[in-house]
Amino acid sequence: MSKAGPIRLAVFASGSGSNFEALVKAIRKQTLEAEVALLVSDKPDAFALTRADTLAVPSVSFYPKQFPSKEVFEREVLDHLKEADIDLIVLAGYMRIIGQTLLEAFDNRIINIHPSLLPLYPGKQGIQDAFDAGDKETGVTVHLVDEGIDTGTILAQEKVVIDPDDTIESLEEKIHAVEHVLYPEVIQTYIKKLQKEYA
Ligand code: GRF
Repeated sequence: MSKAGPIRLAVFASGSGSNFEALVKAIRKQTLEAEVALLVSDKPDAFALTRADTLAVPSVSFYPKQFPSKEVFEREVLDHLKEADIDLIVLAGYMRIIGQTLLEAFDNRIINIHPSLLPLYPGKQGIQDAFDAGDKETGVTVHLVDEGIDTGTILAQEKVVIDPDDTIESLEEKIHAVEHVLYPEVIQTYIKKLQKEYA
């Protein structure tokens, strides 16, 4: 963190990777001063890996079940992060709970984006849960990662209105559009804060 040069991010994704792509594009537009040095996936068939190839971002993927424990899996991931000289982990649709090995190595340096107004609707189905509850609004939360499920310190939130004629698909689209703008902005602000602290 105290070194010269851009902050090096590792993005962790299990699925489509649209947030990963939005981050890479923000960096290329220079609105986010960082480098995505590595994409990490726990799903070797994730579309995020195809996006990484197209965007020429190095990537690595794993079958976590092939490891004897979460700790051994995370130590392997950690080796890749060290090799790529990663400063900050950015979770973007990573469907796995981060364990002690990574939490200790990246204390206060793991960020997540969640598609609800936390503490409402943590877990895997944030959008669906708000929709099913008949809520009039939901939103997006960016937060630090701790050992809980979507429980770390909140860095930013943005509301999204649920219109009466919204479907789950249209709501998902609105949420993603907000995420793709909010996440790069919040990461940029957080990087500036970290740089000040480590200066
Ligand atoms: C996003 O809605 C994010 O908030 C949640 O998982 C989804 C990932 O979407 N954690 P994508 O893979 O970035 O398209």
